Amino acid sequence: MSVTDKIHFRMMSLIHEDLYRVFRDPYQVLDAAGLKPGQDVLEVGCGPGFFTVPAAQIVGEEGSVYALDINPLALERVRQKIGKSGVANVTTILGDAAQTGLPDQSFDLVFVFGLGHAIGDVDGIMAELHRVLEPAGILSVEGRLRPPNQLFHPLGRQGRIVQYRKVA
Ligand SMILES: C[S@@+](CC[C@H](N)C(=O)[O-])C[C@H]1O[C@@H](n2cnc3c(N)ncnc32)[C@H](O)[C@@H]1O
Repeated sequence: MSVTDKIHFRMMSLIHEDLYRVFRDPYQVLDAAGLKPGQDVLEVGCGPGFFTVPAAQIVGEEGSVYALDINPLALERVRQKIGKSGVANVTTILGDAAQTGLPDQSFDLVFVFGLGHAIGDVDGIMAELHRVLEPAGILSVEGRLRPPNQLFHPLGRQGRIVQYRKVA
């Protein structure tokens, strides 16, 4: 990990943790995304984990959160937060969202927040998220990312969050 990578991660964390915290309530955003108790949820591009522990608290002990990021510094930070919070239903995954290695149809909901500049192949990421979602699964997206119509059908918008239903 180069010094530049570390500085870049620190700057991203300043924006996505310290600054956004001032005007974003993670519980409200996750509610808009459709998270419910008992769900199995994949968080794509979890970054420093602003949403990870709140998501784990919302889905509760009957549910689970898989927090995935391509950046090892992000997962290191998320693991620290998990340790401090005491939640026991989060699994961290270091990897590319286009190739998660997760089983087919294993999630009720996938959320992708703040992934304006995905590293790599966005079409590949969308195909992969379609694969890992259950047949009636929900993809919730914040920001500019627009999933292709042949894979995801728009359900509705709340603020900056758009929910999509997986197309069978
Ligand atoms: C701007 S941060 C957003 C963090 C968090 N979701 C939030 O909204 O606060 C975007 C994150 O997506 C990760 N990322 C970008 N491309 C990725 C990919 N192909 N696979 C997995 N993670 C990726 C980056 O490493 C970064 O941590």
